[in-house]
Amino acid sequence: MSPAHETAPGGEGKPDQYGLVGHPVAHSWSPFIHGMFAQATAQNLSYRLFDITPQAFRRDILHLFTSGVRGLNVTLPHKQAAADLVNELTPRATRAQAVNTIAFFEDTTLLGDNTDGVGLIFDLEQNVKLTLADTRILILGAGGAVRGVLGPLLERESREVVIANRTAQKAMSLAAEFADLGQISGCGFAQIGKGPFDLIINATSASLRGDLPPLPDGLVCETTVCYDMAYGRAQTPFTAWATGQHAALACKGWGMLVEQAAEAFLLWRGIRPNTRPVLDALAPHL
Ligand code: ATR
Repeated sequence: MSPAHETAPGGEGKPDQYGLVGHPVAHSWSPFIHGMFAQATAQNLSYRLFDITPQAFRRDILHLFTSGVRGLNVTLPHKQAAADLVNELTPRATRAQAVNTIAFFEDTTLLGDNTDGVGLIFDLEQNVKLTLADTRILILGAGGAVRGVLGPLLERESREVVIANRTAQKAMSLAAEFADLGQISGCGFAQIGKGPFDLIINATSASLRGDLPPLPDGLVCETTVCYDMAYGRAQTPFTAWATGQHAALACKGWGMLVEQAAEAFLLWRGIRPNTRPVLDALAPHL
């Protein structure tokens, strides 16, 4: 399998096409991020947003690839559908059964990868400066985004991971899927049990609608880091809640967004761009 971009070297001719599929996608900063990566690494590519509904997902994605698109990022609600659609998965995407990056190869292979986990870990360790070993971690939500981060979090030898979800059964089955990697359990929000946690990650899509999952008291102490995978200019309902609970830190998912994008860029173009200039460029906007 050789990367499709090798047929059109960067810097010459028509740009290679990449993009993000999701529903909704209009809020996305990915075109800005990949635009900066492309400029910094002298890669000749364009990056567009594609708003595709779940009903049209399969047909429209296949159409994009047959009409020349070389790679796609995938966001909610399509990460699991993307894992079903591709014809090969990387080991980490196989583990997650969720895909956030697709690469199209010359021999027509569609390779699905998941860079969410490595992106989150990179941000937590390098940017937030958090040590994950021996921590108690609470994850809110049990969708496609969580599937990508569970393996990498458990591999960092966290002491315990609790997944809490609106649909408790989904959290329990997800925990069972990853039980071979460490101490992990699933429950509903009302059954979270005893705090405090060292790290609380919001991976529900509730923030997109301005909602906060119903969380019991006692989850946060003065050293707890609260991390919202959602991002935006203003506080999210979750970061506002974390600040009200006197968490040590309440951060949004900008770092994860940029780091997972760098890993996708690496898969597509063979180069991992330096993320610091992009994080610095985003900072004044946040
Ligand atoms: P993603 O790819 O971002 O994980 P997803 O697979 O659609 O998106 O999953 C969305 C997650 O947000 C789910 O865990 C969902 O809970 P359910 O499994 O019960 O549907 C959660 N979610 C969405 N809206 C929510 C809300 N208003 N309150 C709490 N959880 C919510």
